[in-house]
Amino acid sequence: DETTARRKDAHLDLCATGDVEPAQNSTLLEHVHLIHCAMPELAADEVDLGTPFMGKALRAPLLVTGMTGGTERAGAVNRELALLAERHGLAFGVGSQRAMAEDASRTASYAVRDVAPTVALIGNIGLYQAIGLGVDGVRRLSDAIGADGMALHLNAGQELTQPEGDRDFRGGYRVVEELARAFGDRLLVKETGCGIGPDVARRLVELGVRNVDVSGLGGTSWVRVEQLRATGPQAQVGAEFSGWGIPTAAAIASVRKAVGPDVRLVASGGVRGGLDCAKVLALGADLAGMALPLFRAQQQGGLAAAEEALKVILTALRQALVLTGSRNVAELRQRPRVVSGALKDWLAAL
Ligand code: FNR
Repeated sequence: DETTARRKDAHLDLCATGDVEPAQNSTLLEHVHLIHCAMPELAADEVDLGTPFMGKALRAPLLVTGMTGGTERAGAVNRELALLAERHGLAFGVGSQRAMAEDASRTASYAVRDVAPTVALIGNIGLYQAIGLGVDGVRRLSDAIGADGMALHLNAGQELTQPEGDRDFRGGYRVVEELARAFGDRLLVKETGCGIGPDVARRLVELGVRNVDVSGLGGTSWVRVEQLRATGPQAQVGAEFSGWGIPTAAAIASVRKAVGPDVRLVASGGVRGGLDCAKVLALGADLAGMALPLFRAQQQGGLAAAEEALKVILTALRQALVLTGSRNVAELRQRPRVVSGALKDWLAAL
């Protein structure tokens, strides 16, 4: 309905210019130190960043995580960032398809295949909307945009801070199990900035989930976004919880340890540069994920600005591999690294 679309545009405004990344929150990636190799013995061009994802061969291990759709403005964001992902061989996710589930005339704002015919394209729906839609409804959303995979997002923290949000979180695993059976390795379960920890990840994998985006604390806080929209007591509770979550570095390292080598893991949440990407890949991610930095660049300067931001990220990622003497991500993971400070405490507990 109208309110879903209006809320989406309010979210975009807040994310474009608001203080949605509380300064005290951290990914804890500052406590990961990759170790310099003074004699790399390789050429930058030799570094191979390619990786498979959702049946496609990516040229770089990067997912533009799902953000938007449902309005004209949102459609422009999707098309420009999908085109960027297509050009550079990244994966691209649209935002929650709830708006098009409610009103099919909004489908065009998620449709990017004409500008991104070969991109690894990921649809998106919230867990509790998926309960209402059922497997067939979710499949229709995926088919309508020609997606290669479907992301199911978890956002209990955001819902509780949203005045009109969900309050009943029962029955989630049952839906995940049904969707995993229907979508197989084309299902991705993701958080939205509060993180997936090892216990939840293990249970998801037991139910057949093969792709997880931990989307941890340290970047965009959806509790903060809702806090900025809320008033009165709701805003106060939101303020108290806008630093709630599992920091991205702690989430990715602990989830990799919990689920073993065969599950595809994405690390998003506060990943901001190529060196951050290298750190999450070293900690066990198969792909790094990013939302806010590319969205903001696009809002400020369109496709050209987003492309410039992406080139800096890809150059820095490649540089991190060269300077650790790694030809590819598998080699990067085998290099020693230093983990210090609070991240050590988190990893001791998880
Ligand atoms: C998001 N995110 C998000 N996630 C999701 O699964 N469905 C969605 O509709 C949205 N919408 C959305 C809009 C905007 C403007 C942003 C910035 C983000 C969450 C996103 O995919 C990601 O999990 C978090 O934002 C953490 O990554 P960053 O932003 O810290 O890089």
